[in-house]
Amino acid sequence: MNIVILAAGKGSRMKSTLTKVLHHIGGKAMIYRVVETALILNPKKIFIVVSENKNEIQHELKPLSQNSRIVYIDQKDTLGTGHAVMIAAPLLDSSCDTLVLYGDVPLVSSDSLKILCKKSESPTLKVLTAIVEEQTGYGRIIRNSNNLINKCVEEKDASKQEKSINEINTGIILAPTESLKIWLERIDNNNEQNEYYLPQIILHANADKIPVVPILIQDSEEILGVNSLLQKTKVERIFQKKCAVSFMEQGLEIFDIDRFDVRGTLTFDTNVKIDIGCVFIGNVSIGKGVIIEPYCIIKNSSVGNYSKIKAFSHIENSLIGENSNIGPYSRLRLNSVIKNNCKIGNFVETKNTELNDNSKVNHLSYMGDAKIGKNVNIGAGTITCNYDGNEKHETIIEDDSFIGSNSELIAPVKIKKGAIVGAGTTLSKDAPENSLTVRRAKQTSFNGWKKSKKNKKK
Ligand code: UD1
Ligand code: CA
Repeated sequence: MNIVILAAGKGSRMKSTLTKVLHHIGGKAMIYRVVETALILNPKKIFIVVSENKNEIQHELKPLSQNSRIVYIDQKDTLGTGHAVMIAAPLLDSSCDTLVLYGDVPLVSSDSLKILCKKSESPTLKVLTAIVEEQTGYGRIIRNSNNLINKCVEEKDASKQEKSINEINTGIILAPTESLKIWLERIDNNNEQNEYYLPQIILHANADKIPVVPILIQDSEEILGVNSLLQKTKVERIFQKKCAVSFMEQGLEIFDIDRFDVRGTLTFDTNVKIDIGCVFIGNVSIGKGVIIEPYCIIKNSSVGNYSKIKAFSHIENSLIGENSNIGPYSRLRLNSVIKNNCKIGNFVETKNTELNDNSKVNHLSYMGDAKIGKNVNIGAGTITCNYDGNEKHETIIEDDSFIGSNSELIAPVKIKKGAIVGAGTTLSKDAPENSLTVRRAKQTSFNGWKKSKKNKKK
C-alpha cells in the first residue's frame, strides 16, 4: 500500500504563526501522530506532502524519519487537497492501493484504517465517513439510491439542504492507484474556493462506474479535523479522555478524567492514585501504590513504589526512590535524585542534587549541586550558595550530619560525617566530622535600653 499524508500549507484558520500540523495534541505534533499511525499499517512508502513548512516538519519527524519509507514531497503552491495528491501521484506504485490521510486529523486509529483498507473483490473507491453532531466545515456526503456515494459537497458549495446532512467526509480515502492517477488528472477548480478538491475524484469514479463505498467509522471522535484553536482544544480533550479511560481500564485510579493530562508516555504500576489537575509530560513512570495529590506537574521523571507527591509539586528530570514524601509545593529539577524514605517539604527547590536514604529537607530551602548522604537533616531555610556569578560549585554533606536552620553553605564546601552546623551559620570552610561548627555574630543585650520616641510636635 502507498500512503499519502497531506500536510502542506500554514493553516490560516488557526490564526497562529506555527504551521497547523505542528500544533500538539497530547504532547505530540498532529503530523507526528498521523505518521506513527501510518507506520503501524506497514505501507511500502509514506509520502508526506509539505510546502514552505518542510524544514520544521522534517525536524519534528526526525525520530520517525530513520525509517527510509518516509518521503517528503514539495507542493510549492497549495492549490487544494486534490492538487496535493496530484503532485504525489507520479511516485505512487500503481500495483497497490493508495491511502490518503490528513495531517490535521490526528486521532484516527490504525484499527479504523485497517477496516477501510480491507481488500475488496473488485476495484472500488472507499471513503471513510462519519456521522457528527457538528458538521459545519466538513464536506457533506451525498448518497445515491444504492447507498453508495454520489458526491461530496464542500461547506462553501453546499445548498441549505445539503448543509443539513450530518454524514461527513473525513477526507480519508482508499483508492486503486492506477484509477486514482486518471481521476486526479480530471480534477478542476471550478468551485467557490477555486481549489482542486480531492473529493472531486468521487464524481470521476462514478463516471467510470467504479463504486464509491462509504465506510462509516464507529467512533466519530477519531476523525475530528483541527482547523481552528477551538477545534484543537476539543480534540485535545477528547484525546485526554480516551487516554484516561484506557488507563483506568488498566487499573490507574484517576479522580476526575476531565482534569487529567498526559503529554507523552505515562507508565504505572498497581494501586496508583492521581488526584485532579495533574499534568504528565514526556516519559514518566510511577511505581506501586504511589499517591499524587492535586495539581502536580511531573516531567521526564520516575517515582518509586509507595512514594507520595503532595499537592502543587513540580518535578522535572528527576528520580524519586521508594517511600519518599515530596511536597506540598516542592520543586525538583535537573537531575535531582531523591532516594528512599526521604522527605522534601514545602518551598524546597533541588537542582542536580542527590539526597540519600532517610534524609530530610523539610522547609524553605535551596539545594543546588549538592551530594547529601544518608540520615541527614537539613534545617529550614538552608541555602547552598552554589554559584559565584561565574561557575557552579558542589556542596557535599556526608552521612548523619545535621544542618541548623537558616544556614548558608558557600560552595565548594564539605560537611563531614556526623557534623552539626549551628543554626544561622554562614559556612565557608569545611565542617569537621562529629563536631559542632557555628559561625554567628555574638548576641548582645543592653540593659534598660528604651525605644527612641518619635519627634512629636509640642
Ligand atoms: C477537507 C475536505 C473535506 C473534509 C475535511 C475533513 C477537501 C476539499 N475538503 O476540508 O471534505 O470534510 O477535510 O477534515 O478536501 N493540504 C495540503 N495541500 C493543500 C491543501 C491542504 O497538503 O493544497 C492539507 C492540509 O495541510 C490539511 C489537509 O490537507 O492537513 C486538509 O486541508 P484543509 O484545508 O484543512 O481541508 P478542510 O477544509 O478541512
Ligand atoms: Ca482540515
